[in-house]
Amino acid sequence: MPKICLASYNQGKLKEFKDLLKGLKLELVTPIDLDLSMDVPEVGSSYADNAAIKARTFAHITGLVTLADDSGLEVEALDNAPGIFSARFNPKPGASDADRREYLLEQLKGYSQPWKARFHCTVAVAEPEGKLYFTQGFCEGEIIAEERGTHGFGYDPIFLFPELGQTMAELLMDKKNQISHRSIAVRKAIPIIRRLID
Ligand code: IMP
Repeated sequence: MPKICLASYNQGKLKEFKDLLKGLKLELVTPIDLDLSMDVPEVGSSYADNAAIKARTFAHITGLVTLADDSGLEVEALDNAPGIFSARFNPKPGASDADRREYLLEQLKGYSQPWKARFHCTVAVAEPEGKLYFTQGFCEGEIIAEERGTHGFGYDPIFLFPELGQTMAELLMDKKNQISHRSIAVRKAIPIIRRLID
């Protein structure tokens, strides 16, 4: 079976990627499977730059078609912050996802609700020779002050879908993978991956 590399160390993302790609006749390998421990600095100024850096780096090292994403949460009241800085949105060294959620809620104190927000995902698919392809996905919702749900990762427990009355963390992965920013971007990338491995 052809192999592709999923360039992420984020266990939450990897579970979602694997579920989204499970229908393809592919072997999915991660940097951890390959014993690669690399800190790829996310120094780009856009989601696409950062996704490209990750996809290109691992495509070059592994010689495999490689998929990476860069994603983030954009909160309207905060001028779309944290955006590409979502994974680092807390000045405390070693901050956890829970610390970042708490920090976000502190920043939102004083702004009136609803706190409209959206998740963004840019997927980059890189060929070993360096050629890149991009897709994007978004999903709209709002930030709530109380955490709800235990699934998912990151900001999921405080990201509400008002029309469902559920947070992202209350959705089972099947449902998250029907509507999330990442699922939309990955579904758009599937025909590209198919073409590259054929
Ligand atoms: P990066 O793409 O590795 O820069 O990380 C993106 C960050 O955005 C994650 O560490 C999370 O904090 C946040 N994020 C991205 N996608 C999701 C999601 O599906 N749920 C919750 N948080 C997310």
